[in-house]
Amino acid sequence: MISRLVRTFTSMKIAIYGAYGYQGRLVRAELARRDAEIILVGRDAERLAAVAGGRETRTAAITDHDALVAAFRGAGAVINCAGPFTPAGTAVVRAAIAAGCHYTDTSGEQLHIKRVHDTCSEGARRAGVVATPAMTDGGVPGDLLARVLADHLGGGPLHEVLTGHSVTGGAGMSRGSMRSLLGTADVVRSGGLAYEGGEWRTEARPRLTSLTFPGRGPVPMSRFALPEVVSVPRHIEVQHVQGFVEADLAAQFSGAVPEEAVDAFPENPDAEARRGQRWAVLVRAGTPDGRRATAFAEGSDTYGTTAAIAAEGTLRLSGPPGVRAPAEVLDPAAFLNALAPTGTTWKIT
Ligand SMILES: NC(=O)c1ccc[n+]([C@@H]2O[C@H](COP(=O)([O-])OP(=O)(O)OC[C@H]3O[C@@H](n4cnc5c(N)ncnc54)[C@H](OP(=O)(O)O)[C@@H]3O)[C@@H](O)[C@H]2O)c1
Repeated sequence: MISRLVRTFTSMKIAIYGAYGYQGRLVRAELARRDAEIILVGRDAERLAAVAGGRETRTAAITDHDALVAAFRGAGAVINCAGPFTPAGTAVVRAAIAAGCHYTDTSGEQLHIKRVHDTCSEGARRAGVVATPAMTDGGVPGDLLARVLADHLGGGPLHEVLTGHSVTGGAGMSRGSMRSLLGTADVVRSGGLAYEGGEWRTEARPRLTSLTFPGRGPVPMSRFALPEVVSVPRHIEVQHVQGFVEADLAAQFSGAVPEEAVDAFPENPDAEARRGQRWAVLVRAGTPDGRRATAFAEGSDTYGTTAAIAAEGTLRLSGPPGVRAPAEVLDPAAFLNALAPTGTTWKIT
């Protein structure tokens, strides 16, 4: 089934919005490796032409709905890489839906992801398309591992799903990621949304203070605005979902960053630093009767992994129309296995 879908979708045209940005260029390279036909879309015609390499380009501002719809028309899917997403990202989702395209993005911004789920699902259902935000190294492994664990624990309701992210090694963030963090600083500082007893709340007592990642001792963790806190309750009946990152990392993100410092930031980490970077996602799930299981995924190069996830995930999208969590449109184990060429490994521990 999966291989048939992949074959079908590799013949699909994919529009990349924000195509001349750093992540847009990485996504384009991953799509090209998969022989997908690409349309490069962005707001600046000259910068699009500079990266086109003979591919089709279309220009549209995010504020011009009709131009966006025209730019996406004829594509099977849109991958939106134009962050920060919180200010205007839903405009791209609405235009993709109006053009009859499936939609994914590289957002890690929890409020944008929640807004897409809350406000775009009915339109996507009516148009018969799937929209899945947060197709990233941050948004996909945690959601898929939670689904794998829920099935491993019998498929019934869960008491809790707690997910922890760690990033170690030299590579810093891209300027675009810094902008996204700066634009959502209040959400990041507050720890973001947690899912408690059927609703998302900003105030929640952290359900853990440390996590033991394989090969490391206990790591102090702080509550954080992770994408899977929004997506997991869409496909798992669960009382509590909370996201965490290493306390040291959360402390770095919570400091004030002046706008000028972001402009002075390097556009992207260099290739060698990216190779030295390690990311890890640990998911702990428990049932109401006290059974527990843990799943773990790790890999290197967060931006390269995100590009592979966005490209492969978009080509494999398959599920009922609407705004959907990654686990609703991807086969969890098969998709995690398909990331092996990026160096990603995973296991139930
Ligand atoms: N794990 C994760 O959560 C994860 C991983 C990877 C990337 N990301 C996210 O992906 C996004 C892109 O990162 P990046 O490093 O590629 O940033 P970037 O190099 O700054 O690229 C951003 C692109 O979006 C466009 N853009 C931004 N705002 C726009 C607007 N209002 N209207 C039209 N176009 C707009 C930019 O065009 P202009 O230059 O014309 O503004 C540029 O082409 C960030 O939000 C980042 O946080 C998240």
